[in-house]
Amino acid sequence: MSESSPGKISNVLNETRVFPPSEAFAKNAAIGSMAAYEALYAESLADTEGFWEKQAKEHLHWFEPFHKTLEWDEPFAKWFVGGKTNVSYNCLDAHVLAGRGQRVALYWEGEPAGDRRTITYADLLRDVSLFANGLKKLGIKKGDRVSIYMPMVPELAVAMLACARIGAIHSVIFGGFSAEAIADRNNDAKAKLLITSDGGWRRGKALALKATADEALAKSPTVEHCIVLNRLNNNPPMVECRDIWWHDLISDVPADCPAEPLDSEDSLFILYTSGSTGKPKGIRHTTAGYNLYAKRTFEWVFDHRAEDIFWCTADCGWITGHSYIVYGPMSAGATQVMYEGAPNWPEEDRFWEIIERYKVSILYTAPTAIRAFIKWGDHHVDKHDLSSLRLLGSVGEGINPEAWMWYYEKIGGGRCPIVDTWWQTETGGIMMSPLPGAIPCKPGSCTRPLPGIIPRVLDDSLAEVGTNHGGMLCIEKPWPGMLRGIWGDDARYQDQYWKLVPHMYLTGDNARQDEDGYFWIMGRIDDVINVSGHRLSTIEVESALVSHPAVAEAAAVGRPDEIKGQAIAVFVTLKNHEPTDAMRDALKKHVRKEIGALAVPDDVRFTSSLPKTRSGKIMRRLLRDIAAGKEGTGDTSTLEDYSVLVRLRNDDES
Ligand code: WT7
Repeated sequence: MSESSPGKISNVLNETRVFPPSEAFAKNAAIGSMAAYEALYAESLADTEGFWEKQAKEHLHWFEPFHKTLEWDEPFAKWFVGGKTNVSYNCLDAHVLAGRGQRVALYWEGEPAGDRRTITYADLLRDVSLFANGLKKLGIKKGDRVSIYMPMVPELAVAMLACARIGAIHSVIFGGFSAEAIADRNNDAKAKLLITSDGGWRRGKALALKATADEALAKSPTVEHCIVLNRLNNNPPMVECRDIWWHDLISDVPADCPAEPLDSEDSLFILYTSGSTGKPKGIRHTTAGYNLYAKRTFEWVFDHRAEDIFWCTADCGWITGHSYIVYGPMSAGATQVMYEGAPNWPEEDRFWEIIERYKVSILYTAPTAIRAFIKWGDHHVDKHDLSSLRLLGSVGEGINPEAWMWYYEKIGGGRCPIVDTWWQTETGGIMMSPLPGAIPCKPGSCTRPLPGIIPRVLDDSLAEVGTNHGGMLCIEKPWPGMLRGIWGDDARYQDQYWKLVPHMYLTGDNARQDEDGYFWIMGRIDDVINVSGHRLSTIEVESALVSHPAVAEAAAVGRPDEIKGQAIAVFVTLKNHEPTDAMRDALKKHVRKEIGALAVPDDVRFTSSLPKTRSGKIMRRLLRDIAAGKEGTGDTSTLEDYSVLVRLRNDDES
């Protein structure tokens, strides 16, 4: 654990406003009162395994039934043991066979004007079956790892579902990552195949994804083939024998590809996320438990109905896109909007235009986007009719009450509940959130746990803290959507999540519970920065900096940022180099190359030495204060010596 001490956190946020659902909303909701929520929650705790057993039998298709609900060999869980199912079957075949093939699955909107496609469930089943046969043609089998590096086009979902159909394990790599980051992930997973595109559109610019993929493939010895989707017609160089166009691959394959019956615990995907060490962790999720959890949490939290048009603005490169664009909504047969591009292209009203066009009824977005909308101004919102909206959602980081109120009033017209959903890549799906017809909202609180989830807040001595005291947030029991491990590293899985607090899952977040039993998330306990709702570890940024030949030592910290939540500030000691603006730019470029644009530091400060504790740990808390204070920025001529501050501060740090 870092020097930041959990368990002793003062609560500075005192938010007392309460927003119950309107009578009309509650009347139509599946779970329409606090009593109904309490009853469901109590049922789930009285016999948790029995509860999930019933859910699994009712809500998934089984080729073969499971014979045991949970096998818990702490900390390794197996859910629905012995059962055979298929996630792509549950997302596609189940609807088509039930006569719902003509339902729209995706209203896809590309970034360039007028670039639109409407895709039904029957269309999606056809495309997924063809592509799955294409994967088989390349020799991809159950258990093989497939990296996917694509823009937000329907084929990204098709590629994920096609892997799921044949039991290949996908690893989606966000389209903003660099060649280095892709190669690291390919190599850690020993991926056999990379699926990419010649590019995608972002803020009017064509992103050359294939060029980045080529650079990554030069360092990815396990990857045998690269499938390339033609999105831009920009004719990237194709490597003979290795590269194959998506359309050529499927031109001569059979149309039918039955979904393979897979074991409940067969791996569905790996998704890399940041931890507090430099090496990204491949979070591993499996078939049945994940599928059930994504589906049911989607239905509970978004109170989903057949007539809804759901829009989750996340990218499929993150867990939110996995669980609440692909697997949750599609298992539930939802009709969705999927958008390729930026919220401010060609103008800052793009989201509101999309909502008006498709009559979106449920919008699920991130606080970082909401803060940007507030900054861009109400006039962009006022140009559009947003009366189709009935429910709003937020995810990725805490939403500050001011942004919450703006979202509620300006976007929701004061009539839409806001589901502030707390969860993680590791949890697979939403863990705490208001159920919108039942649980009154408080701005800034993720309110209460979902069925089967028991959160606890503990102090350093592992005792439960009292009401309104902050502490480490832990989860008491296993749940079907939980991660099953870190790819190839059981020891790290045990160490990171199950060691500090025995018999509980350690979330890595701090939280407090108020007098109404509502939870308030208070940020991370480890050295992880949350930039625009995405986790980055300080050590990854530091390692990237130190890999530059001019850098001796580096420390990265988060500082508050109005739009991004946190911005990255780095303190750098150079080896016999001048601290110039050119050096600052070179270091930023270097981080962009090593990790990607989202990790580029906002502030680079040069120092002759870093402040350290007596045991040699960098004093991040002190650096965080300095970064937040912003003094000294922009002045490249002076070289600060932050270590001198240690003499003043040493007592409370070591
Ligand atoms: C971390 C997980 C969950 C999908 C997107 C991020 C923070 C997430 C909230 C929320 C306060 C939140 C936590 C969590 N977080 N949602 N509603 N309120 N904080 O997934 O990259 O795995 O990050 O994001 O710190 O631990 P992730």
